[in-house]
Amino acid sequence: MNKILVVFAAAVIACHAVPTTKQGEFNRYFVYTNANPRLPIEIIPGEITEESVSALFSSSNTTIIVHGHRGSVMTSLNPTVKDAFLRNQDINVIVVDWSTFASQTYSVAAGAVPSVGASLASVITALVGAKAIALNTLHLVGFDLGAHVVGFAGRNLDGKVARITGLSPAAQNWGSNSQRINKNDALYVEIIHTDAVGILGHGIGDPVGDVDFFVNGGTGQPGCFLNNYCSHNRAWEVFAATLTNNHLIGNQCGNWLQVTLNTCRGYSIAMGNNDFNKLGSGMFRVNTRRAYPF
Ligand SMILES: *[C@@H]1O[C@H](CO)[C@@H](O)[C@H](O)[C@H]1NC(C)=O
Repeated sequence: MNKILVVFAAAVIACHAVPTTKQGEFNRYFVYTNANPRLPIEIIPGEITEESVSALFSSSNTTIIVHGHRGSVMTSLNPTVKDAFLRNQDINVIVVDWSTFASQTYSVAAGAVPSVGASLASVITALVGAKAIALNTLHLVGFDLGAHVVGFAGRNLDGKVARITGLSPAAQNWGSNSQRINKNDALYVEIIHTDAVGILGHGIGDPVGDVDFFVNGGTGQPGCFLNNYCSHNRAWEVFAATLTNNHLIGNQCGNWLQVTLNTCRGYSIAMGNNDFNKLGSGMFRVNTRRAYPF
């Protein structure tokens, strides 16, 4: 009797373990460059060799974009941010699609984050090995749960990636999680907070990067009429605008009260953009308009 139960229990555990521990194996990777800005070329993780990728990765600089819950390669984060990267620069863009799990319930998607990030790190390692990309000219950009995905990827690469940008990193299940995106995940970690306050906010409120920009105080974005989804999505919209205009300048804040009251008077840094050599630390406030280019 006991033996049968044990076998049964083992079978149940095995059934659950297979699909929930290998989520990252379902990741797909789409490459865009200035030579193919519209139609991507998919790279297959197990088939990365110097011969197969050398012609594809034409630039020395690379960015990797990771969507959040309910996202995919098709959701507007990806065409908007991808197109903004390709507009004025010679760059390789890889869009990661983890929609197999991102499209499921929030808790399933949130649970997939570590595996999705670890698989991304393996692909990055393979591409570095194939001399297609280099960690010191690599920028990882993640929105919502994707911010924690790029955090995991960066951690798996010993924090040696040049830059990570976290766009309104997801708060639910992650806000106080010790494995959330943090400043050690890359040489420079920048966070853009747009929906960071209160129980309805989708984004982390704590400063977790080297530099944390609180856009219009970090919550209730102008033109969003207190709609949290609108404020959350504003993170990638303003980031995309900075890639082409580089016009949103933040001032360092001494404390939360200054962030909230808009009285930050410290030194200034441009939010966003694609500079690999940014420096700075602390909380910054940046004020924007209600519509593109903000
Ligand atoms: C790579 O990025 C740096 C900025 O961080 C820039 O100075 C350089 O021109 C870029 N290289 C190419 C090929 O665009």
